[in-house]
Amino acid sequence: MNLKFCCSGFTCCTSGSHLAKEGLDARVPQEEIAPLYDRVSGIYDIWGRLAESHARRRAIDLAAIRDGETVLEVAVGTGLAFLEIVKRNPHGRNMGIDLSQGMLSRARKRLAQVRGGNYEFSTGSAFHLQAENDSVDLLVNNYMFDLIPYEDMDKILAEFRRVLKKEGRLVLVNMTRGERFGSRLYETLYRLSPRAMGGCRGVCLSDKLREHGFFVVVREYHQQMLFPSEVILARP
Ligand SMILES: C[S@@+](CC[C@H](N)C(=O)[O-])C[C@H]1O[C@@H](n2cnc3c(N)ncnc32)[C@H](O)[C@@H]1O
Repeated sequence: MNLKFCCSGFTCCTSGSHLAKEGLDARVPQEEIAPLYDRVSGIYDIWGRLAESHARRRAIDLAAIRDGETVLEVAVGTGLAFLEIVKRNPHGRNMGIDLSQGMLSRARKRLAQVRGGNYEFSTGSAFHLQAENDSVDLLVNNYMFDLIPYEDMDKILAEFRRVLKKEGRLVLVNMTRGERFGSRLYETLYRLSPRAMGGCRGVCLSDKLREHGFFVVVREYHQQMLFPSEVILARP
């Protein structure tokens, strides 16, 4: 098990769920998320490549996709990770859902470049997944929990657990709390203007995952453009 424990001041990523809750909570209401991402969908990829590409790439590596699997990406966004998933799983089933029509429309354009890819997109919420119980081999979810209030995370993790097969994998990337030089910059920006940060603040999901019976196989910290991300591989 590769678990990183880090603690500095009140932004503490360590065991003990009370500590995990000490960070900032979400300050952009859920009903504003879809319109917010509809508005930024045209420029999202600039940020997505500059500050998040290393963590997203690592998530795809950890996912170890085997062709023929059933893969669900929740909060698929503009399809930056989904493109890689579909390329690696041409004979499997690939599903991407998101709240934002604007982000989905970008994802559809991106995926149009894949010939013969087997994929489907739909508008949907992480709170109510359409997938059947025990039907998904791999669930990928990047940079969404950082938008979710702590009190709502349990509902989503219960949904993830419900749809994943017993031997399935969960790969998560989140904006996390800074652990290195300069990484607190984004926390300050969030305090000043949560919407300018796309509603994202740093979170640490390992403890929540364990509370829901997941086994955290890997938790890594990545920092790009001073932006702190965690990449997690977990199993039900
Ligand atoms: C920061 S973007 C990340 C997009 C993509 N996963 C990526 O890594 O590039 C957050 C995305 O989460 C979506 N989202 C937020 N809350 C959601 C929810 N409850 N259900 C589904 N999608 C959600 C937003 O619409 C947006 O596309």
